[in-house]
Formats: sequence, C-alpha cells, structure tokens
Amino acid sequence: MSAPHILILGPPGAGKGTQSATIAETYGVAHVTTGDALRANKDMDISDMDTEYDTPREYMEAGDLVPDAVVNAIVEEALSSADGYVLDGYPRNLDQAEELEDMTTLDVILSLEVGRDELIDRLTGRRVCSECGTNYHVEFNQPEESGVCDECGGELIQREDDTRESVENRLDVFAENTEPVIAHYDDHPGFEPIDGEQSPDGVWQDINTAIKRHVE
Ligand code: AP5
Ligand code: MG
Ligand code: ZN
Repeated sequence: MSAPHILILGPPGAGKGTQSATIAETYGVAHVTTGDALRANKDMDISDMDTEYDTPREYMEAGDLVPDAVVNAIVEEALSSADGYVLDGYPRNLDQAEELEDMTTLDVILSLEVGRDELIDRLTGRRVCSECGTNYHVEFNQPEESGVCDECGGELIQREDDTRESVENRLDVFAENTEPVIAHYDDHPGFEPIDGEQSPDGVWQDINTAIKRHVE
C-alpha cells in the first residue's frame, strides 16, 4: 500500500498532537494539523471571507471554531502536497467532514477517548516548546530541565487557549460540533476507538496495533 492516510480524532487534550508526532515519525507521513497551522498564522487577514473577526486570533483565544472556509483551504493545500499523512484537528464539524470526503480517502480513523476531568488537568498543565512545538506537562510529562525543551533547548510556554475559561469553552464546542463527527465515522472502514487515558506509551502501543490492522 502507498503511504497511509490516517485521521486522529478526539477532544482537546486527548493527546492528538503527542501521538501524531510518533505516528508521523514511525510511518514517515506528514503531520497535518490545523491547530498548529492556525497558530502560525494567527494574524492573517481573513476579512475577505466574510467572517465575524478579521483574523483567526479572536476565535482561537476564546476557544471557538475558526470559520470553515479558512480551515478547509488550509487542509486542501496541505493534503494536496502530502503523500501519506496523519490529520489532526480537522474535521471539527459535519460540514468539514463533508469537505474532507471530496479531498481524500481515509485508511485509518483513530478516535482517542478521554474523560472531561482528565482533559482539564492535561490542558491547564500543558507546556509547549516555543521553538519546535514539542508538548510537555508540568506533572505528567516533565522536561529534564524545568522550562526548557529536551529536543531543542527552546523556552516552554503556555498556550493562550489553555486558560481554565477557554478550556471549558473548547470542551463545550467539541461536545456540540465534533462529537457528531465521531458518530458519523463510527461505521466507516478503519474506525478504531482508542483508550486515551493510559500512559502516552500505552496509548501508542494501541494506536500502532490499530494502524497495522489496516495498513500493510
Ligand atoms: P488545536 O490546536 O487542534 O487544539 P485542540 O483540539 O483543542 O487540541 P489540543 O492541541 O489542545 O490537544 P491534543 O489532543 O493535541 O493534546 P496534546 O497531545 O497536546 O486547535 C486550537 C484552536 O484552533 C481551536 O480551538 C480552534 O479555534 C482552531 N481550530 C483548529 N482546527 C480547527 C478546525 N478544523 N475548524 C475550526 N477551528 C479550528 O496533549 C495535551 C496535554 O496532555 C500535553 O500536556 C501532553 O503532554 C499531555 N498528554 C498527552 N497524552 C497524555 C497521556 N496519555 N497521559 C497524560 N498526559 C498526556
Ligand atoms: Mg494538538
Ligand atoms: Zn523544542
């Protein structure tokens, strides 16, 4: 089979970014993530798309969805230049899921399952490398030296949407918009629910086994 097309679904803080990094490295595929793409372009002018705000920043800091037209364009562009990929953070509503069907076919759909209290603990304690984007956690995944990235020595910072208020809103937005997307995929070939409450390594073992079931 050619390079795999993998979708990773799950609520904010489920470990999509953490696991996608390992998937991308192990399978030699691109990590396509709308969250990182938008964070790198927070102040791009989207006013010509008839949106409520002129840049993605306002939506993201509140934990609301950035308008579909903006994210659809990002994903279409990224997938057109990728051979295999792990797609993280998209689709987040049923309209985006429909768009994706016109862009590509999916071999594996991983659905990370984690309860709300655990998600809040993970997100409010997350730290991210300002240089290379590697994820850490003040309790669950500490760097060797506090505040410094093990991979590149960069400074670790807190994401602007990891405040308690924004986290609560992100979880509500997920329940309303993205849970129906998971229900939509649960009878799709390649759908694999994954217990996301294990250690990062335990989650990875289950993901790797699940991918191997569908990809030669
Ligand atoms: P995005 O960046 O996608 O954020 P998210 O979905 O809220 O997910 P996160 O990145 O917060 O969590 P994750 O699942 O990647 O978990 P992680 O591995 O970091 O989107 C941000 C914003 O962009 C959205 O709110 C929206 O505004 C906009 N946006 C993006 N896509 C969009 C779209 N398609 N449409 C519209 N708007 C869009 O792990 C979390 C923490 O837990 C880390 O500290 C990590 O170290 C720790 N951890 C990970 N795994 C474990 C484990 N097994 N045990 C213990 N701790 C763990
Ligand atoms: Mg992420
Ligand atoms: Zn780094």
